[in-house]
Amino acid sequence: MDQNQTPLFTGLKKHVSNDPIQFHIPGHKQGKGMDNEFSEFIGTQALSIDLINIQPLDDLHHPHGMIKEAQQLAAEAYGADYTFFSIQGTSGAIMTMVMSVCHPGDKIIVPRNVHKSVTTAIIFSGAIPIFIHPELDDSLGISHGITPESVKKACQAHPDAKAVLVINPTYFGVTADLTQIVQIAHDYDMPVLVDEAHGVHIHFHDRLPASAMQAGADLAATSVHKLGGALTQSSVLNLKEGLVSHEKVQSVLSMLTTTSTSYILLASLDTARRNLAIYGKDLLESTIQLADYARDHINKLPRLYCAGEEILGSSATYDYDPTKLIVSVKSLGITGYDAEVWLRNNHHIEVELSDLYNILCIVTPGDSEKEIDLLINALKDLSNTLGSREAIQETKVYVPEIPLLALTPREAFYSETETVPFKSSVGRISAEFIMVYPPGIPIFIPGEIITAENINYIHENVAAGLPVQGPEDDTLETIRVIKEHRAFK
Ligand SMILES: Cc1ncc(COP(=O)(O)O)c(C=O)c1O
Repeated sequence: MDQNQTPLFTGLKKHVSNDPIQFHIPGHKQGKGMDNEFSEFIGTQALSIDLINIQPLDDLHHPHGMIKEAQQLAAEAYGADYTFFSIQGTSGAIMTMVMSVCHPGDKIIVPRNVHKSVTTAIIFSGAIPIFIHPELDDSLGISHGITPESVKKACQAHPDAKAVLVINPTYFGVTADLTQIVQIAHDYDMPVLVDEAHGVHIHFHDRLPASAMQAGADLAATSVHKLGGALTQSSVLNLKEGLVSHEKVQSVLSMLTTTSTSYILLASLDTARRNLAIYGKDLLESTIQLADYARDHINKLPRLYCAGEEILGSSATYDYDPTKLIVSVKSLGITGYDAEVWLRNNHHIEVELSDLYNILCIVTPGDSEKEIDLLINALKDLSNTLGSREAIQETKVYVPEIPLLALTPREAFYSETETVPFKSSVGRISAEFIMVYPPGIPIFIPGEIITAENINYIHENVAAGLPVQGPEDDTLETIRVIKEHRAFK
């Protein structure tokens, strides 16, 4: 196959160049029928390809033309047997993975620190989660992935589980030995579903961890929009056939996908694939060099630490993605969120995320030495300004225990509930998700028993200014819990 070809994007441009007279949606008709300020800002070229699945342009729900060809090229580039385009992000692709392999009542082995789309898929499918504790890094205060040993134990204890789900790499760019995890799961005939939201690029450079397809996984939901140059919302679902059939995946994906599929997003997947397949290795080589340069300089700054290969060596830290800059600011006696706000107010810098202890900055082919030097200088200023204060209290790293699951997430979601004050909810079963977003990893999921320790952790995040989301009452005064029925006296 010729990876220089972009059948979808080229076909779309060709269609538009024929100047068809449009009597179909979208009603803005190349921007002429919409708000002027917006259409002028977006530009007529972009609006001309804001089309949906009219006959000459193929149909994402039943691809047989230009979308099929684009997906075939993508499959070759990503090392898959089949690639499906998702314009509902990796969240949509993750729900498809889980719902393709789990029926109501089926078990699925998952790390507890999954993205909320996994828990949503578990609720939709009616699957029973068998949670594995992720390894915690007490020094950085972050969760890594699950280890081959813990997967083996879970498979031995639940040989009837229908699949193992793995996050590879984590938001922070760390991976376990995925190839070994796949071998273990396959020994039990369980397919491996990979949340590869943060790993589209790792397939294209040897210094980056093995991608899901390279490790032999069965399905991988991959955000091309995050680190692969596609537009926001554009992801792929890669499949190695054997344990899961492509027909099933196609039909579940179609059930979960809008019928008004955006061709701007689809074209961006087609062209991002070309760019990665042809230039990915070189682009990533320069990106890794830039990130290494940043890491070296940041590590020379007092009271700042940027994690590098010294974190490797445990079973949960088998490999890492050096393009992620995890900068620990705890020795400055401030939270990651404080650092995020300080960098915004003083240096006009926006980071990817912050938590209680760290900020995370991503380096991509979109960066040059100029931006990296601006970041290094800003962090130098942060270190000088805040590091010179007297009596710096180093922030103590603490990650709470994972709550016990009393009901399946689906049972809890559909149970009779009542609203109680949050502070007196200890011991009750949560009917809601509560998470810090980003990264969107739940502190409570529906069905878990609320603990004082986790309530404190939520308050700590709120007090630090971090975005705690999920409950219906966003002031966090109250929470919805499973209704208790007491015996009549
Ligand atoms: C670990 C992880 N999985 C899945 C997702 C969902 O990806 P998307 O935003 O493409 O739907 C995210 C998003 O941040 C994520 O961090």
